[in-house]
Amino acid sequence: MIRFSNKVALVTGAASGIGQATAIQLAAEGANVILADINEDGLKETQNEITETGGVSQYRITDVGKRSDCRALVESTIEAFGQLDVLCNIAGIAFSKHLEDVSEADWERMVDINLNGVFHLCQLAMPHLLETKGNIINMSSTAGIDGQIYNSAYCATKGAVLLLTKSLAIEFASKGVRVNAICPGQVNTPLVANFTMPENADMVQFLKMAPLLDVAEAPEIANTICFLASNEARYITGIGLPIDGGQTIG
Ligand SMILES: NC(=O)c1ccc[n+]([C@@H]2O[C@H](COP(=O)([O-])OP(=O)(O)OC[C@H]3O[C@@H](n4cnc5c(N)ncnc54)[C@H](O)[C@@H]3O)[C@@H](O)[C@H]2O)c1
Repeated sequence: MIRFSNKVALVTGAASGIGQATAIQLAAEGANVILADINEDGLKETQNEITETGGVSQYRITDVGKRSDCRALVESTIEAFGQLDVLCNIAGIAFSKHLEDVSEADWERMVDINLNGVFHLCQLAMPHLLETKGNIINMSSTAGIDGQIYNSAYCATKGAVLLLTKSLAIEFASKGVRVNAICPGQVNTPLVANFTMPENADMVQFLKMAPLLDVAEAPEIANTICFLASNEARYITGIGLPIDGGQTIG
């Protein structure tokens, strides 16, 4: 399937996990892809994989928590490829802590990366997306739909991303820009592999977050992102799509 020829996609979090898989699929389907992350080794790995399969990409080291970095990223995208059609805000961090153990620095870092970064890039990219009638995919989570124990800071950012998405979808629908979010459950990535349970955890509450199906793989999430970013999803805007193996059925 080639759904993105002559399209330019910007992917944050492109050095690892879901962002890496998304960048690779977008490039495989014809997009010129700008890869953004703080991890240069991971960015090179993604770029090499894209190049080996004949795709086109450039990378830019970017801390999405810094507005100046986000501005430079959007500017370099336009400089490199002349347009922007798809923005995938995928970069993110997670930690699981009792409320009393969440430091001010923990909270600020989580908000800077998971929420402020998404806002900065949506705002800075919008003039270019208006020109191409492009679209945005933001990364929320099942943690943006339901509260989760020991995840207060993470849930706060992912819930905010979901409503940021819906608000922008309403504001820009008549101008031709779609804005959607996805809400994955458990995906097999370094973020989950590095997960540590806080001490003295309430396992009964914790296990309520278990999905009904097995853990997902990053390319499965990338597949859904590419569908939403493509013209096949022309009539879809403002959704927060759970991809969660039944975790949020209720
Ligand atoms: N893995 C899951 O189960 C799961 C579930 C729901 C949502 N998510 C979300 O999916 C997104 C991707 O996570 P993943 O599972 O692929 O994890 P990952 O750790 O493999 O990838 C996250 C990427 O974000 C990058 N990043 C971190 N801070 C950054 C910053 N300041 N600026 C730019 N890049 C930065 C990391 O370097 C990394 O490459 C995150 O937003 C995460 O919250 C993941």
